[in-house]
Amino acid sequence: MWQKLDRRRFLQWTAGTSVVACTAVSTAQQASSAADRLRVGVMGVNGRGRSLAQNFASRPGVEVAYLCDVDSRAIETAIAALKEVLGTEAREPQGVADFRRVLDDPQVDALVIAAPNHWHAPATILACAAGKHVYVEKPCSHTAEEGELALAAARKYNRVVATGTQRRSYGVIVEGMNKLREGVIGEIRYARSWYRARRPGIGRGQVMDPPAWLDFDLWQGPAPRRPYKDNLVHYNWHWHWHWGNGELGNNGVHALDLVRWGMGVDFPTRVTSSGGRYWHDDDQETPDTHVVTFEFGPRLATWEGLSCSPTEPGITRAAIATFHGDQGTLEVFDVGYRIYDMQRNLVADESGPDGELEHIDSFLRCIREGGRPAADIEDGHRSTLLCHLGNISQRIGRALQIDPGTGHIRDDAEAAALWGREYAPGWRPEV
Ligand SMILES: NC(=O)c1ccc[n+]([C@@H]2O[C@H](COP(=O)([O-])OP(=O)(O)OC[C@H]3O[C@@H](n4cnc5c(N)ncnc54)[C@H](O)[C@@H]3O)[C@@H](O)[C@H]2O)c1
Repeated sequence: MWQKLDRRRFLQWTAGTSVVACTAVSTAQQASSAADRLRVGVMGVNGRGRSLAQNFASRPGVEVAYLCDVDSRAIETAIAALKEVLGTEAREPQGVADFRRVLDDPQVDALVIAAPNHWHAPATILACAAGKHVYVEKPCSHTAEEGELALAAARKYNRVVATGTQRRSYGVIVEGMNKLREGVIGEIRYARSWYRARRPGIGRGQVMDPPAWLDFDLWQGPAPRRPYKDNLVHYNWHWHWHWGNGELGNNGVHALDLVRWGMGVDFPTRVTSSGGRYWHDDDQETPDTHVVTFEFGPRLATWEGLSCSPTEPGITRAAIATFHGDQGTLEVFDVGYRIYDMQRNLVADESGPDGELEHIDSFLRCIREGGRPAADIEDGHRSTLLCHLGNISQRIGRALQIDPGTGHIRDDAEAAALWGREYAPGWRPEV
């Protein structure tokens, strides 16, 4: 869904800038553009982080100075991937295992975090305290408490903190959301959202010593220590509560961010969850089939997680959410939206390019000029909180009553116990 910077697009960009560089830039301008140059480090470069590193490196005035990973193989692959788009002449980023080395470098402006979820808020908070701006992947936290702390850190240290809910920057999606807010389908009382996939099982892992290429102690970082298992790294941590947030925190957050945005709602009044692990007999803990209901006063939103059922529940293929108003229905898909009137006639069908690079540009612009990015941490936290509440309701097996002013759980000590988590010694985040 997200767009890689391919060689052709990169060459188009460099072709566009090189004319200026060769003919028109004065010495003074060069000096000021060197001063404007932003240096970033990317933490976690196996999948998403590698792509983000390429995309950040493609932006004018940005240098990816560090690639950071606890998997030495991932650093090598990511350096090669960067060279692919930048060419072999470009300055090679430094590969480091410990992101605190990046934070210690006063020349670094921003940390991009694409490590597993249990790292997102602790690394964000440490980075803000070290004076760095942060682009943190979704979900922006592993627990509700961490989300509040990450937001508090952004504000306390006055840093730009953007979340990787990139549809906030897709032009045509912004247009669709604005139309919803302007009443194109009238009063919205209901929104449906979902994610579908065909995920295989992960089997039963063997406990063993971590491989030589992996610093598993630093991989776990803030999470209390668990033995290494051979079916956890990479990616499968998503399906363990200790490190991940299931499909709801993995992909649900994208659709729920749209739901919150389109309906203009923040905290719910009640959250109900049902579902379970029905498909694979393996080590996964998080639901593969999941329905969560969010009540926002007189409005309702649902999210369906179909991790093992690839057929979409939507009106058309690739749809990810529908909004239901008293004058029509608006369907959002990957890169666009469609509007149907009350007679089910299609009255608008808009699509456009993705806004992956624009999302990064929004973050960079705010670092340079001030202001809040398209997916500011406050929205990132509120959308991620819906996922945490859905998962808490699922884990304790009953509906949660929520204070709509704060998003906090009311009168349920067992549920409230899952608001935060335990930490490995020395890792409890503080703001
Ligand atoms: N916005 C999006 O559309 C999008 C898409 C994919 C993934 N993501 C998010 O990006 C994150 C990474 O996803 P992925 O699929 O690349 O996961 P992954 O498990 O494949 O990769 C995570 C990488 O982080 C590294 N890592 C772990 N601890 C680290 C540490 N302390 N320092 C540095 N590196 C560390 C791992 O070794 C691994 O290389 C996830 O949180 C995911 O939700 C977002």
